[in-house]
Amino acid sequence: MKYFFANWKMYLKESEALALAKVVKTTPCAKCFTVAVFPSAIHLRGVKKILGSRPCGVQDVGHVEYGAATGETSAFEAKKMGAKYTLVGHSERRRAGENDLFIAKKFAVALKAGLIPVLCVGETEEERKSGHALDVVLEQLESSMREAGELLKTKDFIVAYEPVWAIGTSISAKPSEVSEMHLVIHKELSMIVGEKGVKTPILYGGSVTANNVAEYLALPAVSGVLVGGASTKAKEFKALIKALC
Ligand code: PGA
Repeated sequence: MKYFFANWKMYLKESEALALAKVVKTTPCAKCFTVAVFPSAIHLRGVKKILGSRPCGVQDVGHVEYGAATGETSAFEAKKMGAKYTLVGHSERRRAGENDLFIAKKFAVALKAGLIPVLCVGETEEERKSGHALDVVLEQLESSMREAGELLKTKDFIVAYEPVWAIGTSISAKPSEVSEMHLVIHKELSMIVGEKGVKTPILYGGSVTANNVAEYLALPAVSGVLVGGASTKAKEFKALIKALC
């Protein structure tokens, strides 16, 4: 199974999100792909109503199950509202101040709630240029794995490698850079969770468009893509889906 995940970020007004959900619902896709959209949490109920059995997710969840966490979205409530997945640790959240430990708590809460977290990891341009890309990504990965502990044995999760310098910049990573990082992540995961780590899907994200999506999906180490900007307009969304099928 390959994945096509659409992160709508905060690009869309409610009417636009609902209109795009109708496009998602009616765009046929190859059976071997899981297509899921990640609308703003406040649009989740409406989008889910349109999508029916098609999966969707939220873009983030709170670091506690319930309680004093103003402005956060409870993973448990998102699950009840029909979300199947949640992003965790997206670079736009990290840039807003979330550190590895805070993100690790969100990852563990998402697992407990029965959501499938998509742990986003990725280095900045400076970190890559200074030769620290692998260390940074592995630390982001390990901190969440440590916090989740025993939950990793029974719950599923996904990793998305999204180099910060490739997000929203039109500078997509080279397939060789993506393959290298995905192999390192798989190796690390197999050391932490054994056989399950080898099978954990790893997606690539960062300036994916209809023109380059096939290039990434052809890489054996890539289980799918996480697409932001290009997934938020009906014409481009359809072109992306066409490129998969
Ligand atoms: P982008 O964003 O496709 O607009 O680069 C990807 C993401 O942030 O998940």
